[in-house]
Amino acid sequence: MFMSVKTILRMGDPRLLRIARPVTEFNCAALDQLICDMFDTLQAASGVGLAAPQIAIDQRVVVFGFDHNPRYPDAAAVPRSVLINPVIEILSADREDSWEGCLSVPGMRGLVPRYKHIRYTGFDATGEPLAVAASDFHARVVQHECDHLDGVLYPQRIRDFSQFGFSDELLAAERLPAQPCTD
Ligand code: NI
Repeated sequence: MFMSVKTILRMGDPRLLRIARPVTEFNCAALDQLICDMFDTLQAASGVGLAAPQIAIDQRVVVFGFDHNPRYPDAAAVPRSVLINPVIEILSADREDSWEGCLSVPGMRGLVPRYKHIRYTGFDATGEPLAVAASDFHARVVQHECDHLDGVLYPQRIRDFSQFGFSDELLAAERLPAQPCTD
């Protein structure tokens, strides 16, 4: 399988606003190639997660995970994962505000509330069902990536737009703590 780094769509492209279609065929070369392309693209961008719509593929597929990311040295490892046709179940009403970024919104960060404890179900590339409980940053990444499948970008989740800006300005003003973001 060839390495293939795809162009990541940026906010404003209407393809990021679609409700993506469920995957209906598993264990096939097209799906394997898509997942390979997504991991290649994610790695090239040093990101922690990517959704298929971000590379213009209208399918409910997300990938995420890393052992150690130099951009987010304090982030706990998240297992490298493929999640297809995901469903998120909220396990508690607890929400937490944290800074997020997105590869489709380059150079910016915003403070976004997310549920702290979730359970997600879906399928892997072979069609095997999976069910995982996730908390904190892991749960945040999954919520962020799954939002992409419903055409939602994190700026739409920001409650206070004074807490949104360019990463370098936020860093210069020491408003951006050394904590993980999601892109
Ligand atoms: Ni994103």
